[in-house]
Amino acid sequence: MTARRAGPLKGVVRAPGDKSISHRALILGALAHGVTEVEGLLEGEDVRRSAAAMTAFGAKVERLGEGRWRVEGQGVFSEPADVIDCGNAGTGVRLIMGAAAGFELAATFTGDSSLRGRPMNRVLNPLGEMGATWICRAGGRLPLTLRGGGLHRIAYTVPVPSAQVKSAVLLAGLHAQGGVEVVELEATRDHTERMLRAFGAQVDVSEEGARRRIVLAGGQSLTGTKVRVPGDPSSAAFPLVAALITPDSEVTVEGVLLNALRIGLLDTLREMGADLTISNVREEGGESVGDITARHSQLSGVVVPPERAPSMIDEYPILAVAAAFARGATVMQGIGEMRVKESDRIALMAQGLTACGVGVEEGTDSLTVVGSARANHGVAGGARVATHGDHRIAMSHLILGLASADPVAVDEPGMIATSFPGFLPLMRSLGAEIDA
Ligand code: S3P
Repeated sequence: MTARRAGPLKGVVRAPGDKSISHRALILGALAHGVTEVEGLLEGEDVRRSAAAMTAFGAKVERLGEGRWRVEGQGVFSEPADVIDCGNAGTGVRLIMGAAAGFELAATFTGDSSLRGRPMNRVLNPLGEMGATWICRAGGRLPLTLRGGGLHRIAYTVPVPSAQVKSAVLLAGLHAQGGVEVVELEATRDHTERMLRAFGAQVDVSEEGARRRIVLAGGQSLTGTKVRVPGDPSSAAFPLVAALITPDSEVTVEGVLLNALRIGLLDTLREMGADLTISNVREEGGESVGDITARHSQLSGVVVPPERAPSMIDEYPILAVAAAFARGATVMQGIGEMRVKESDRIALMAQGLTACGVGVEEGTDSLTVVGSARANHGVAGGARVATHGDHRIAMSHLILGLASADPVAVDEPGMIATSFPGFLPLMRSLGAEIDA
């Protein structure tokens, strides 16, 4: 797939459903008693894998129409008859392992080559402390077989800022004797806590500075409910940054989730001088959403502090693209977690940007991008970027290609469908020139 420079980007679009909330809606729906109706579900590959997994664990999952899904949970998971293949989805496999650990069953999980390379110990360790057992490949890699049931209470401090780990422990805690207590040293996305409450559970959260203590009493059952999935800020970031870097552009993305633990990118872009307006802010399904308008802006480099990482961890690739068009250097600190995403995103962004003529410095847990604006020569582009099957690496470089001197091509564009199946038509509707 190749992106090339064309006219300004203009228009109003709707972001696809939030990926994190979509996975959780299906999993909690399957854990609950009764019917859950979901509206606005992200119909990307990752979420479809979670839907199939919930069927395998005994829930009745039906697609009623575009983004409209019905899940009938039994209140328990039954043992799946075959291997659960979560595809590319780290959120899917980690949350489902947590949920499954609460039941007397054995389940074997696998995924694509990217997911099979990612660390599962971060979830297996606390599940093991609770009483689950497993057998896995070296380094806690998939495929692995997990045996659940008979869990007991733990108080667990999550060693890395990870909403997936926090969520896996909370979901296991639903069926642990005495419940569970989870402490996070830095707040991460809180969709699991919010959604557990929407399904009728009591979740107590206390904050001590940046630390958050989450207590879930044992023996609670969930009741099916209605879930309205807001637009994904991580996907909205692509058309918004495209507008910021493409002269004379103005793009509005409607219905974007504005949860404070997800919008570190907006704060960062504003500090860089981005013209971003948020309007029509409203409450939908227990989350704040709004419409975001981005206009072409002269950006300046900034230092992005490490404490911002959890609120924009998936957005550093597209921030790095915005930074390439800025005046001066942008320093992204404390982003080591990017190395264990769908790919090593620090390394791949450094390689891709370098191939496109952008000055980059790669640190162990940092990335510095030297913007092209001061030199006034713009971004060269003209590369074919290896994405290693990572959807966000692919989309980020295509956006770069919309404003660089020469076109930018990416391999494996099919992977974009894991999180943003409508990316190509949406970008084209704004005037982007992207050829498949
Ligand atoms: C997610 C948490 C983050 C994020 C991922 C979605 C979630 O991962 O990168 O895309 O839905 O909980 P970590 O928990 O590994 O930081």
